[in-house]
Formats: sequence, structure tokens, C-alpha cells
Amino acid sequence: MTEIFDAIKQTAIEIKELIVNGDTGKSEQENATGDTQLKLDIQSDLIIEKIFANVPSIKAIVSEEQEAIVNLHEKGKYLIAYDPLDGSSLVDVNLSVGSIFGIYENDFTADNLIASVYVVFGPRVELVIATEEVKMYRLLKGKFEFIQTIALNEKGKLNAPGSTQNCWAPFHKQLIDDIFNDGYRLRYSGGMVPDLHQILLKGGGLFSYPGTSDRPKGKLRQLFEVFPFAFVFEKAGGQAIDGKQRVLNIPTTHIHDTTPCFFGSNEEINRVLKVYKENE
Ligand code: AHG
Repeated sequence: MTEIFDAIKQTAIEIKELIVNGDTGKSEQENATGDTQLKLDIQSDLIIEKIFANVPSIKAIVSEEQEAIVNLHEKGKYLIAYDPLDGSSLVDVNLSVGSIFGIYENDFTADNLIASVYVVFGPRVELVIATEEVKMYRLLKGKFEFIQTIALNEKGKLNAPGSTQNCWAPFHKQLIDDIFNDGYRLRYSGGMVPDLHQILLKGGGLFSYPGTSDRPKGKLRQLFEVFPFAFVFEKAGGQAIDGKQRVLNIPTTHIHDTTPCFFGSNEEINRVLKVYKENE
């Protein structure tokens, strides 16, 4: 998979350049989920597709910004699902954004996920690769240098509660209130890549994007966002659930399926499981 990781590093260098110098305006197009695409979304997607097209081990790709799977190399072994620029609507206010990649074998389903990579575009560019371990690299003078292994503590201090609060179930609101009452601090930027990266690097906590009255199946997409980060959290010693079960046990019926999701260290996730079980 080294050539895939090298290709992703190359995409990060080109996308960073695009973020710094590109046009943050809207395009005329919508993506598969009905969001109006920004020019940055489309251009990031093109950068990734162009670079992956030169990697023989990649059999097929699917992008959050596209409707269908794109076949690349018939003899390739790997399938990659990716979100080229998650949180792109935050670029115009100069907040951090990211790219997310799930590397699958055989099929685009959670049980076939074998590695994940994400890139954070903030004041610095950092890239995290999860295989059996979770390793972080930083772009320094044009090259990604290894910085550290990431491992979660059993319990953290941060709480990142997503979605529209007046659409939360009352028991979910109570859970979030209770967590704050226990001294957790709010950290939520609206970009899941920097928000989850913060929880991973600060030792733990909880990020939630629940099912809500307006979006019972949540907002975040399984293949491009939830599964890749679930893999990272599990390999870092934490958990990722939909409230009741491991998200990596959820079947995928359509490439753009979404799911409620909770990522965190063990103590916070066990707390969510208990509350959601009591409110089944
Ligand atoms: P988008 O790429 O459309 O800006 O969405 C970003 C995602 C994810 O990165 C973030 O955690 C979540 O949407 C935020 O959604 P809410 O504003 O509904 O909390």
C-alpha cells in the first residue's frame, strides 16, 4: 500500500496549494447528496482522481463528490472511497478542513476496510495513516516527516456535539448536558477532520453526530467519513458506534449511505451505549 500512501501525500501537497490560492466560490453543480459543490470540492476531486489514475494497485475509486464508482486498473487490488475536501465551506472563514480516505479490498463495505488515511489542512498540514497502528506525519519543507504514534486514553476531556440541537432526541440532549456538567469542554468547529484530530491528539473525548428528527440516519457518510474514522479510532484504542453497535458492523446498501455516529475514547463511548440502550 506504500504507493497509495505516497499518492495521498502528493494529493495533500497539491490540495494545500489549491486551498491557499484557489477560488472559494460556489460552482453550478450539486453532488450526489444534493449539496451545492464549491469550486474547491470539484478541483480537489480532480486532483485526487488524476493522481490515483497513475497508481496501478488501485482497482476503483468512489468520491463523495461523484455519483458512481470509477474503475481505474483492472488488475489493481485496492478500492478507495474518499471525501476530497471535507468541511470545504469553512475555507472562506479560514478554518481547518481535511481529506479522508478509506482503503478497501474486494468491496466497499466496512468489513473490507483495511486502512484509513486523513489529512488535516490547518496552520500546518498533517497526515494520519491507520493500519495496525495510527501514525501521524507533518509536511515539513515539502516532505511528510513522521511525528508520533497516536493512542487514546481511556477517558478524555473534550465534547464535540454535532447537528442541530433542536432536532436532537430529549435523551440525547440530556446525555450531552450531563457530559458538560461533568466538566467536559466544548470543541466543535463544524469540520469533522480537525474536530476528530483534536480528540485523537488531546487523548480522548467524544464526537457525536446523532440521528435527529430532520435526519434520522445522521448526516455523515459511511464510506467516505464514518468508516475511515471508525478504523482510526479503533486502532488508536477507542471506539466508534452508531449508538447501539460498532459502526464497522453496519452493512452498506448504497455508496452514499449515512449513519448516526459517535467516536471517542472508551469511557465516553460506553456511556453513550448505556444511555442509548436505556432509550431503545
Ligand atoms: P460539509 O463538508 O458539507 O461542510 O460538512 C461537513 C461535515 C463534517 O465535517 C462536520 O462534522 C459536519 O458536517 C458538521 O455538520 P453540522 O454543522 O450539522 O454540525
